[in-house]
Amino acid sequence: IIVPVILAGGQGTRLWPMSRAARPKQFLPLTGPTSLFQNALQRVADTARYAPAIVITNADYRFIVAEQAAELGMKLSGILLEPVARNTAVAIAAVAEYAKAHFGPEAILQILPSDHDVAVDEGYWAAVAEAASAAMAGQLVTFGIMPTHPETGFGYIKADATVGGGARPVDRFVEKPDVERATQMLAEGGYFWNSGMFMIGAAAFLRECEYLAPQTLQAARQSVAQAVTDLDFIRLDEAAFATAPNISVDYAIFEKTDKAAVVAVDFGWSDLGSWDAIWKNADRDAAQNLTQGPVTLANVTNSLVISDQAHVAVSGLDDVAVIATNDAIYVGRLSEAQKVGQMVKTLRSDK
Ligand code: GDD
Ligand code: MG
Repeated sequence: IIVPVILAGGQGTRLWPMSRAARPKQFLPLTGPTSLFQNALQRVADTARYAPAIVITNADYRFIVAEQAAELGMKLSGILLEPVARNTAVAIAAVAEYAKAHFGPEAILQILPSDHDVAVDEGYWAAVAEAASAAMAGQLVTFGIMPTHPETGFGYIKADATVGGGARPVDRFVEKPDVERATQMLAEGGYFWNSGMFMIGAAAFLRECEYLAPQTLQAARQSVAQAVTDLDFIRLDEAAFATAPNISVDYAIFEKTDKAAVVAVDFGWSDLGSWDAIWKNADRDAAQNLTQGPVTLANVTNSLVISDQAHVAVSGLDDVAVIATNDAIYVGRLSEAQKVGQMVKTLRSDK
């Protein structure tokens, strides 16, 4: 049995201003009636395959998480709360510590981001099974997606892998390259995108942390050992957790480890992390525009225009993103949508 772990503590800054600090993207119903977080929960609902999920999120989101899980009637193994945001390396290490105590050191964890759209089909389950057996053998497994364009928002994995060929050792893992490097890797071939979904053994992952990220491990271990249970929540100790470096698992572990393996997959996968990704994934009109809400366009092409309430009219532009919410409006080049996150960080630090 696999223990599913849902990462639901991101701030979703690249989908600003729809995704806000108080209600980030994973809790929004971006693809249908249920939120991205709920979709992730539903992918691990089969009790024949999975133990009840562990959710790890920021303390600020505890009620949204509990409420959205309850809406689906899903039982959880625990909701771990981060007192401060320190990105995914320490979040996953804390879960691994917690899982080691509750399910044993050999527990196999499937780490699922909550900002993806995944088509669950036979190919998906075959890949999960391949990844689980490699994880049992001590490898840290990622799922590799065939890249289609020089995306800079993803990790790139170089490996000699084929779909259905099981887990293969990773030669190189490059997190979020610049566009030149991404273009070069695409031309070179043999690279996959990191889907952001991982299969790891709790003990195997913690061993790599000990070696590659000792400070992260220390923070995770102490914050779990000193955690306080509050209703259904497990509050990680703040003083200990705050000492963790603010770094993602991709940079802290996957770029460095020699235990990484990749399972090449061809199931439908899309990251819904940025406005250009939302645009690419949706059905667009003949002029390649995607609109939502009260929007009027004249002579506009390759654009995304979304409005909550105010009527938005756009004229004579190509490659533009306009996102209008009640109290904040974003306008920028759609092709530069990765830059929104940086801008939001500036906005928040200006306050
Ligand atoms: N609990 C917790 N705490 N979750 C977090 C935190 C945190 O501090 N930060 C991010 N997350 C969650 C997000 O909510 C999301 O579900 C997941 O972790 C991944 O974080 P992102 O911030 O969305 O990462 P990314 O999209 O920039 O990059 C990752 O995903 C790409 C594919 O979508 C990397 O793994 C890339 O290598 C990968 O290609
Ligand atoms: Mg993401």
